[in-house]
Parts: sequence; structure tokens; C-alpha cells
Amino acid sequence: MQRTADALRAAGRRIGLVPTMGYLHEGHVSLIRQARKHADEVVVSIFVNPKQFGPGEDYQGYPRDLDRDLRLIRETGGDIVFIPAPEEMYPVDFTTSVHVEGLTGGLCGASRPGHFRGVTTVVTKLFAAVKPHLAVFGQKDAQQALVIRRMVRDLNLDVEVLIAPTVREPDGLAMSSRNVYLTPEERLQAAALYQALCLARQMAGAGERDAQNIIRKMRDLISERPDARIDYVSIVDTGGLKPVDRLSGEVLVAVAIRFGRARLIDNVILNL
Ligand code: PAJ
Repeated sequence: MQRTADALRAAGRRIGLVPTMGYLHEGHVSLIRQARKHADEVVVSIFVNPKQFGPGEDYQGYPRDLDRDLRLIRETGGDIVFIPAPEEMYPVDFTTSVHVEGLTGGLCGASRPGHFRGVTTVVTKLFAAVKPHLAVFGQKDAQQALVIRRMVRDLNLDVEVLIAPTVREPDGLAMSSRNVYLTPEERLQAAALYQALCLARQMAGAGERDAQNIIRKMRDLISERPDARIDYVSIVDTGGLKPVDRLSGEVLVAVAIRFGRARLIDNVILNL
């Protein structure tokens, strides 16, 4: 991959990277299209990264369908698919990690300790392998996108980070590889994530500025779904991802909800 990247760079080609864990859906496809717009060569990486899964999480059962992924990438105009093996990425004596402090303590970092360290470590390795000029990430994983932006800035990595909007199912559910874990009944109830986010947007639009009032109503809406177990419902500032008491400026409204085996996340940004 590095030799290919060197050759492309020597030929003056602009390399765009879309890192994924595979089992691609329309959300991933939209990222590939974004990369297509801004780069001459689009590299899609597929790597289910063991380091970002905690003990008891779904690493072993994470859905995979390589043939379908390759077809989607080809149809969308991806040029190169990079599929490293786990033992290539992490030899037995691998001992280095990249960690972004502060931004990783709350939201998903609180319920998934070590998760973001795994993400920033693998993304650094993917950048080192693919040598991209730009990389595209999804707003669906808002905290991940902000953490990667911070890492790139803090470490002076020479990669432009683009963040693409969340792609949703017709009922508003954000597309996710993990949606396959949902039973038909859970799938219906899962629309509550986006409904709660829309409720927050409505309340803010009607002048509500008290974060707890909004969070309470969102929790009520979600709790009406019998199979929903709330991990968090939070309103944080987009700079430091710290909870806010009152809404002002730009805030991130973010939710993480479990339905059976699936842990689903979603968010919207509000500009007050
Ligand atoms: P994965 O969950 O496969 O997601 C790959 C990329 O697709 C991420 O940038 C994610 O934000 C984006 N994405 C997922 N669902 C989306 C949707 N509905 N709309 C728009 N974009 C969406 O995120 C990861 O993999 C990993 O953590 C990774 C960055 C590859 C590091 O291992």
C-alpha cells in the first residue's frame, strides 16, 4: 500500500481515504462519493479493528460481507481497496498507541473505555499506510470525527479531514452496520433515536434553552419504546464535548441507546 501511495503521489495524484470496518451501506457509499469529489484516487480501507472493541463487545460477531463490499466500492467509483490482516496491523509485540485526552472521556468514551484509543491508533496506522491527502469521516460518529480532527491538528498530520452528513433510512434511523442486529420489532422502535433528536431541535427552535428540560423530554420519548435501554442522552458543546446547562452557540445533541444486542448512536448539531 505504501509503495502504491508513493507512486500515486509521485505522479501528482491526490489520494482520498475512506476508512471503514466493512459491511458497507449507503452511509459509507456517501463517504466514498465525497472522497471521489475531492481526490483523484479513492482508497477504501476495510478493517474490523480489534483494538476499538472492549471485552464482551461485538468484535467476533461484527457483520462481514466482503463480496458485497467490493461490488459496492466498484459501483461507487472507489479505485483501491486496502484490507490489511489483523496480524499485519498488530504483530504480537505491538505496544504503541495514540490517545487523544479530554474529548474521549465523555459520551461513548464513558461507556466504552479504550474505544477511542483504538480508533485513533488504527486511523494513524491507516494514514501511515495509505498516505492520503484527505480522509472522509461521517457525522454519524460525531465524537469520533471530532477526536480525529483534534488528533490531526495536535500531531500536525498532513491530512485534510472532511466530515460528511449522516445518511438515514426513510423513518430517520441512521444507517449503521449494526442495524442488522435489530429484530423487526426493535427496528421499528429504533426510529425513536432520531425522533428524540428532532424533538430537541423543535424545542430549541421554540425557544427552550434549558438542556435538562430537553433531555428529560427526549428520555421520556425514548423510554416509551419498551425495548430501549438508554446509555446516554446528552447535550454538549462542540468544542470540548462538555455538557452544557443552557443552549447557546453550537451544541451537539447526542444519544446512545441499546436495543437487544445493538448499541445505536445518533446526533444532531444545533446552531442557536
Ligand atoms: P464504520 O462504523 O465502518 O464507519 C466508517 C465511516 O462511515 C465512519 O466515518 C462513520 O462515521 C461513517 N458512517 C457510518 N454510518 C454512517 C451514516 N449513516 N452516514 C454517514 N456516515 C456514516 O467508524 C468506523 O467504522 C471505525 O471507527 C473506523 C473509523 C473505520 C476506524 O476503525
